[in-house]
Amino acid sequence: NDKYTAEQHRPQFHFSPPQMWMNDPNGMVYYAGEYHLFYQHYPDSTIWGPMHWGHAVSKDMVHWQNLPIALYPDSLGYIFSGSAVVDENNTAGFQKGNEKTLVAIFTHHNPKTQKQVQSLAYSNDKGRTWTKYANNPVLPNPGISDFRDPKVSWYAPEKKWVMTLAVKDRVHFYGSPDLKKWQLLSEFGKGNVGAHGGVWECPDLFPLTVNGQQKWVLFVSINPGGPNGGSATQYFIGDWNGKEFKNSNPPQTTLWVDQGSDNYAGVTWSNIPASDGRRLFMGWMSNWFYANQVPTQNWRSATTVARELTLQNTPAGIRLASTPVKELQQLWQETKTIKAQEISSTLDLSKEYNLTSPLIELNLNFDVAKSSELLLTFSNTKGEYVNIGYSVPAKQLFIDRTHAGKTNFEPRFAKKHVAPLILQNGKLNLHLFLDVASVEVFANNGQLVMTDIFFPNEDFTQVKVSTKGAAQLLESQAYPLKSIWKEA
Ligand code: FRU
Repeated sequence: NDKYTAEQHRPQFHFSPPQMWMNDPNGMVYYAGEYHLFYQHYPDSTIWGPMHWGHAVSKDMVHWQNLPIALYPDSLGYIFSGSAVVDENNTAGFQKGNEKTLVAIFTHHNPKTQKQVQSLAYSNDKGRTWTKYANNPVLPNPGISDFRDPKVSWYAPEKKWVMTLAVKDRVHFYGSPDLKKWQLLSEFGKGNVGAHGGVWECPDLFPLTVNGQQKWVLFVSINPGGPNGGSATQYFIGDWNGKEFKNSNPPQTTLWVDQGSDNYAGVTWSNIPASDGRRLFMGWMSNWFYANQVPTQNWRSATTVARELTLQNTPAGIRLASTPVKELQQLWQETKTIKAQEISSTLDLSKEYNLTSPLIELNLNFDVAKSSELLLTFSNTKGEYVNIGYSVPAKQLFIDRTHAGKTNFEPRFAKKHVAPLILQNGKLNLHLFLDVASVEVFANNGQLVMTDIFFPNEDFTQVKVSTKGAAQLLESQAYPLKSIWKEA
């Protein structure tokens, strides 16, 4: 644990692999009181290579226990992204004894032919050991080069499994009674619906209720073609009849789960009990533009914090909102109330409120109706800083990491990222998490999210707010956070 507090840029309350390469979260499933997290992993290098499924479990999505690698490459190829389900009714017939079977549905990628097929593995011991199905693959390749990332869920009205699969820049839906025989149901993505700047990957389909009505949300990661360059996750809102997804918005509507540059390939947890009822999400906190180059030593990358997804009514229509899960409140070391006040030029939060931790959650509420720009600046003694800001005339939220430390490892890294955000009566809420090498900003109750990573040469321990034109700081809180490594 001392190792993880000593390593430069190591996240202190996000999941990161103990060592070597990580990309997408995989097989996220809740079973027997544990949140499972598998992940794309190459145990021999900090650079992407032959993919395995790394594994960790958690009781709260905050503190993680690392487990041995779950799936190794085999004669069918590398183990690419996929999902896991609890086979409650033993539809696949893998169950032995009373323990329900966990079934992983993943892509086998043949490195020689570059062809991809879908396969199964199962566990009868709460995910501790895995057996590959003897008759893999269960879904052969129909002659298409990009054919991957199965996300499977149980569709109760028809007592069948539904798989969403990324196929070039389309989603294919398949159905199965037993996870072994799959039948194509429909295709989504024709006619220029949504963004097509790159290949579609890691889809997910799930219901959410809004206005007492059930809508279906389809997530599709896209790389490149994200709103701020490179990798990002778009979503569609519509209806699902067990066979086809019907988009409720005009085809040119492009919606994003997160408009920062570092939230990719995220999907939601399977099998969350109805008594909980939340739709829970985690993404990979990096971007293929520079994931292999980021300046960390012993490991590469981390996941986002776990987030709860909901649908909300907005002036533009029904939209997704993401908020940090309440379990993160365990990290609060103390609660500091920041008093309401006018900020005419600068408020030094570090000095006024003795905030000196590079691990911090802030929930700041502003009225910026009379100001033109508001900046929240995290900085260190080396003159490095990251700015999180709102431009009133441009109606944009932004994160600028141009001066945030090490940036020259890849030319597309040093950027200011912007996203549209329309305020009601000048009210701006910034709920954010700073963790050594990342910031996740949930603006206006999670209506807009921006996640960015950065690599300062010394931790950011100073924070101030500055404005052009007076802004009102309304009721606000600051929470210095604990490190999960020091606690463990
Ligand atoms: C997304 C992705 C997936 C693929 C995996 C390979 O980041 O490209 O489409 O399954 O990573 O590691």
